[in-house]
Amino acid sequence: MKKTLSSVIALSVLASCASVEQPGLKDVFQDHFMMGAALNEAEINGTDTLGIELIKKNFNTIVAENCMKSEVIHPEKDRYDFSLADKFVDFGNENGMFVVGHCLIWHSQCAPWFFLNEDGSQIDAEELKARMKEHITTVMTRYKGRVHGWDVVNEAVVEDGSYRQSKFYEILGEEFIPLAFQYAHEADPDAELYINDYGMNVPGRRDTYVRIVSDLKSRGLRIDAVGMQGHMGMDYPDFAQFEESLNAFAGTGVKVMITEWDMSALPTVNRGADVADTEAYNAMMNPYPDGLPEDVSAKWNERMKTFMDLFVKHSDVITRVTAWGVSDDDSWKNDWPMRGRVEYPLLFDRELQPKAFLREYMKKEHIK
Ligand code: XIL
Repeated sequence: MKKTLSSVIALSVLASCASVEQPGLKDVFQDHFMMGAALNEAEINGTDTLGIELIKKNFNTIVAENCMKSEVIHPEKDRYDFSLADKFVDFGNENGMFVVGHCLIWHSQCAPWFFLNEDGSQIDAEELKARMKEHITTVMTRYKGRVHGWDVVNEAVVEDGSYRQSKFYEILGEEFIPLAFQYAHEADPDAELYINDYGMNVPGRRDTYVRIVSDLKSRGLRIDAVGMQGHMGMDYPDFAQFEESLNAFAGTGVKVMITEWDMSALPTVNRGADVADTEAYNAMMNPYPDGLPEDVSAKWNERMKTFMDLFVKHSDVITRVTAWGVSDDDSWKNDWPMRGRVEYPLLFDRELQPKAFLREYMKKEHIK
């Protein structure tokens, strides 16, 4: 969050007023699921003091936005960097939160050394198994009993239901998934283990995850939940498909978690668009640099409420709803999939106030 001194004072006043009137989200939804947020570096380091207050008040589960990803925590073969991850875990433990580790095996934000021999050639299957096991074991052992659940495998399947052509898949085939779950369970038998992906409403991807989870279970491997990331926009995902996926995952006997919830309020970027005038295109794609117009905000809030109601409806299987950041200024969506847009995707606005749809739930204190 970027703040000037006067805005910090104004925000502090607002935050303290808010804390008198508003119950925390974790209390509002306490009969249904844990409420969570992804923490960024400024929050973990404690420099974003207002952000930290908001987190303590509203969330009972946290996940690391970046600091546990393999390129950060394990940048070289023989070097780990636990500096931020340690602080993240300490913060969660000190505040009695359910701490989630994100993530162990993912093609992205993974340092290139992971797949290479010293001479630069690609490692073979046995070596990749050894490296996966070493990585998973080292990271999970360090936080044994203190990180309560892990995204073991992230984003392994593409829309048509085929496996993503990652290095893990290229070198080990489908077996990389059961192996990761086996190593993770051996490292910390008490930790919950999850498989996580975006676009989970898409039928092809849904079917493959149902097959993967069933396969893990039939082999006797531990898997506790499917993580539906929940990166949304005003025109995706399709609501009925999303609910169908939720039911399909629950049908395999695991829990479901909404793990990275955010909803873009801006036009959806179509990378295939034929763009003649770049400047005009950029302006069109960043239409609300000075604030979200009322009508757009109303639509956004209505759509968020529809999904929140769905989560409440399915709270027999949904155990956690985690937003991918705290307030709009923090969101990765300000720079993705286009850089430099002013986005409005999170649960709290730039003044650190809860969005309108949440204020409605807050009025009811707990949702029964
Ligand atoms: C994103 C972070 O929010 C950004 O800060 C980073 O630059 C890229 O990764 N799916 C995931 C998350 O599983 O780890 C990604 O997080 C968002 C998409």
